[in-house]
Amino acid sequence: LPLVALISGRGSNLKAIIDAADPLIEIRAVISNRSQAGGLLYAQQAGIATAIVDHSLFKTRLDFDIALQTAIDQYQPKLVILAGFMRILSPELVAHYRGRLFNIHPSLLPAFKGLHTHRRALESGVKEHGASVHFVTEDLDAGPVIIQARVPVLPDDNEDSLAYRVLQQEHRIYSQAIHWFAEGRLQLQGQVALLDGQPI
Ligand code: GRF
Repeated sequence: LPLVALISGRGSNLKAIIDAADPLIEIRAVISNRSQAGGLLYAQQAGIATAIVDHSLFKTRLDFDIALQTAIDQYQPKLVILAGFMRILSPELVAHYRGRLFNIHPSLLPAFKGLHTHRRALESGVKEHGASVHFVTEDLDAGPVIIQARVPVLPDDNEDSLAYRVLQQEHRIYSQAIHWFAEGRLQLQGQVALLDGQPI
């Protein structure tokens, strides 16, 4: 399965996917909107092509997204994954990759969409937190969930300790979701994610 990954920063999810070395997937390129993204080094070490599409060089989101789509489509991916990609995508781009665009979000969606999920989880006093892989649709962090992982929120947790516990699970479930897709078992039908033809 040819895949393109979009990153903005550290790239630990990307690294986990590279390290999983799933024989069903081929990471054709890693594209970042920031030239300083640490994750680019993981790609280079693994011999994966990298590209920068710097959002600050474009006047509008649509202009950026057109350049981004052109960069992605050069690699003809069957799946595009957002792995810590910190830009909101236009509906046009989302529609172009409909059913083959994944994101990972550090919360048990639909809880805590958006930023600072760990802080907000701690502030709200939930006993359980986690991460979700979902199909990207037009609404931010609202696409159908493919897989979630739960972790306990412990009494002495701070943002960092909780983020770390969640991140370990992110690394596991992102590879799992990609593997299912590569096996042809995942589909987006309207607003419903299907695994082996059954709603998730
Ligand atoms: C992860 O927590 C991911 O869920 C969120 O941004 C973070 C990216 O981390 N969207 P990394 O760049 O993969 O290390």
